[in-house]
Amino acid sequence: MKIDDIRQVLIIGSGTMGQQIGFQCALSGYDVALYDMEQGILDNAMDRINRLANSFVSDGRLTKEAAEEVMEKIRTTIDAEDAGKKADFVSESVPEDPELKGRVFAQFNKICPAHTIFTTNTSSLIPSMFAEATGRPGRFAAFHFHDVRFNNIVDIMPHPGTSHETLELIKAFADRIGQVAIVLQKENFGYVFNAMLMELMKSAQSLAANNVASIEDIDRAWMGVMHTQVGPFGIMDSIGLDTVWKVTDYWANILKDPQAIANAAFMKKYVDAGNVGVKTGKGFYSYPAPAFGEPGFIEGKQS
Ligand SMILES: NC(=O)c1ccc[n+]([C@@H]2O[C@H](COP(=O)([O-])OP(=O)(O)OC[C@H]3O[C@@H](n4cnc5c(N)ncnc54)[C@H](O)[C@@H]3O)[C@@H](O)[C@H]2O)c1
Repeated sequence: MKIDDIRQVLIIGSGTMGQQIGFQCALSGYDVALYDMEQGILDNAMDRINRLANSFVSDGRLTKEAAEEVMEKIRTTIDAEDAGKKADFVSESVPEDPELKGRVFAQFNKICPAHTIFTTNTSSLIPSMFAEATGRPGRFAAFHFHDVRFNNIVDIMPHPGTSHETLELIKAFADRIGQVAIVLQKENFGYVFNAMLMELMKSAQSLAANNVASIEDIDRAWMGVMHTQVGPFGIMDSIGLDTVWKVTDYWANILKDPQAIANAAFMKKYVDAGNVGVKTGKGFYSYPAPAFGEPGFIEGKQS
């Protein structure tokens, strides 16, 4: 199989990420089938993809006509047979559960042609956790997106059984859809960027939970030295403190690390108070105008 043989892309799961990945593939000229369990979910997904396309028009990345053409390349279906029988490339974005992901791939393994490449957009799992369950481990790897609205970095993470041909095809496909691929040489929880981000968040949480410095000063230190517009606590607010707490708590329980347990307790106070960041208007900072975005924040001279 050659990269030009990939024409039809199947997106399994039409939530936050399935919408973005489907849009990005259609934007690059691929015919996209968006599959989910209910038509209402798919209708909602199409509304959101339409909004995404309109935002590309507003900021000049697409003309109105081009945006309409992109939308025409995306179709929805709740019929697995219809979704999978002509797919050349599959990107799965169902919820983060290895058993569910394995089950969904096993279902599509029976439907898709033998040449179809299977990829998972998992954020915290590794592909070998459900490679055998896919029924075609050689044609399967992780292909992980961050946020196509703001960046074009993707991770490609093969498992030990991924074939060389599959890896090369996924790399070529990433290039065709305008993404810069970070290709892992071995499996690693959190890929590359998320692995670094987790460490940064853990250090920042430990500093605050141990009362070493204030939240603002920790962010100020990072932003001032690294010349960034946001620090670790601002980043956590935008991810969502509920999500950050879940991940922190999950690993604290697995590793039984006392500092991670203290960090999880520190995060939970915010979650229990319903202050989970940008999406609720309050987290470590208040939104839409957080203090770290005001002039003079780094100098500690805000009005
Ligand atoms: N949200 C993020 O920022 C982000 C970033 C990178 C990777 N991811 C990963 O992407 C995956 C999806 O995350 P999301 O945030 O898009 O989740 P989401 O909850 O927004 O969407 C999941 C979708 O999968 C559908 N679904 C559930 N079971 C299904 C099934 N059996 N068959 C078909 N569809 C099914 C749901 O109806 C829903 O529409 C997860 O593995 C997550 O770890 C998420």
